[in-house]
Amino acid sequence: MSELRLQEHEIRVLKLLSDGKRRTASEISGELGLDHIAVIRATSRLGNGGMLEIEDEKKVIPRLTKEGKEVLKKGLPEKNLVLEIGNRKVEIKKISLEDKEIAIGWSRKKQLIDMDEINGRIFLSVTKHGKEYLSRESPEEILLNKVGRGVPVDKKELENLRRRKFVTLDYKTVRWAEINKKGLELADRIEYVEEVSQITPELLASGGWKNVKLRKYNVMAPVVERNPGKRHPLRMLEDEIRRVWTELGFAEMKGPMIESEFWNFDLLFMPQGHPSRELMETLFSKNPRKTKLPKKELVERVRQIHENGGNTGSDGWQYKWLKDVARRAIFRTHTTATSYRYLARIRYLAKDFDLPAKFFCIDRVFRNEAIDKTHLPEFNQIEGFVIAEKLNLKNHLGALKQFYEKMGIAEIRFKPTYNPYTEPSAEIFGYHPSLKRWVEIGNSGMFRPETLIPLDLNDVQVLAWGLALERLAMILFEITDIRQLLGHTVDMDWLRRFPVYPRILR
Ligand code: PHE
Repeated sequence: MSELRLQEHEIRVLKLLSDGKRRTASEISGELGLDHIAVIRATSRLGNGGMLEIEDEKKVIPRLTKEGKEVLKKGLPEKNLVLEIGNRKVEIKKISLEDKEIAIGWSRKKQLIDMDEINGRIFLSVTKHGKEYLSRESPEEILLNKVGRGVPVDKKELENLRRRKFVTLDYKTVRWAEINKKGLELADRIEYVEEVSQITPELLASGGWKNVKLRKYNVMAPVVERNPGKRHPLRMLEDEIRRVWTELGFAEMKGPMIESEFWNFDLLFMPQGHPSRELMETLFSKNPRKTKLPKKELVERVRQIHENGGNTGSDGWQYKWLKDVARRAIFRTHTTATSYRYLARIRYLAKDFDLPAKFFCIDRVFRNEAIDKTHLPEFNQIEGFVIAEKLNLKNHLGALKQFYEKMGIAEIRFKPTYNPYTEPSAEIFGYHPSLKRWVEIGNSGMFRPETLIPLDLNDVQVLAWGLALERLAMILFEITDIRQLLGHTVDMDWLRRFPVYPRILR
């Protein structure tokens, strides 16, 4: 049997009809104390479910009009005329009857009276048929009486009364319902259990909770809108990214936001005169103004590489490298500083983990940049690196593709670029659905030997990237202006409406 969930009313109707008696909806409504409309609905559903035989009988309900009621009281005009005339010959002018015209019209039609003209005067007299007419009740009178008393009459019989405007006809559907075999079987098996919406202390104490049926939640019911506190969308995205990298076997790393130029630039083979180090992009720290450099030997190796290439086979940048510059405290411009801090640990400093290794971080970086639709002076990078033997560009592009695919971005594009510390280097682009163009979402590359040799990592390759968290958010959340996401320009309405558990972040 197909599933039919019966509601309270339906069960009560079915139970009532299970005595086999055919009832009208009005009778059912009277017996169960239910609204007529509720009974119609319940019987319809039961009927559609094949449990009741339903018949909708079209009924005509005649009602006496004002004239009809008057005739019933005073008699038919033609009858009154015949009575008034009696056995006489009465001149038409002398008839006192109120609706004389109508009375004469009908009397003539029914051949109850004769009309004679004598010297231009018209006289009325009752015919033989008229006399007989007086001796019994006319069919019209009988019908009017019946209608008056509410006795059912056939619609066809009422035609004459309707034309004479003694009655009007109302049409009404009478619903008949009768239980059938399937209904009886079901009525036997089901029982109406009252649904409760709350378990009360009484129900608990009495043990009555065992017998009640709990009302189902209607999850589609409209509710009052609330704006509870919740995590910022960017934090939700961050968590999802953390989950994805972890799933890919990456461990999370952490590094300081206030860095030395050494870790941020020098170790990365970025010459000290490089424009990006100067005030245009780098934010300098006043307190602390200087940082401590790592052990002397490493600093010395880096100096040599910058000045003449040291033992790397490169010529270096051919300038005088200054320790004081390397020591300056800055707001890190990229999380790649953190990657190098971890790379230095592998074989050179702490030596606390082994190859191969995979690390990521999602952290804040700072750049002295003008704010616009796609730029903020503080933003977050998704940094990562893989270090192992025999890695190549294919592994590199594949890892990035895999990450973005897991984030729901099926297609990314790479563009060759230049970084002082990577070779080859590739910018990453993602398609922004509402901006309808490819936007840069990251930069990446394989770390150069000049940056790895001082860390004793000359026999391995390092795939590395720095991806823009906010740009990824813009694509996934379809935001066209980064300022909508963060800061005092944030779109509060958008934040409020942002789902607590967004589908895009599964
Ligand atoms: N540090 C680069 C940036 O901030 C990104 C990057 C990381 C590039 C690692 C190559 C390798 O844009």
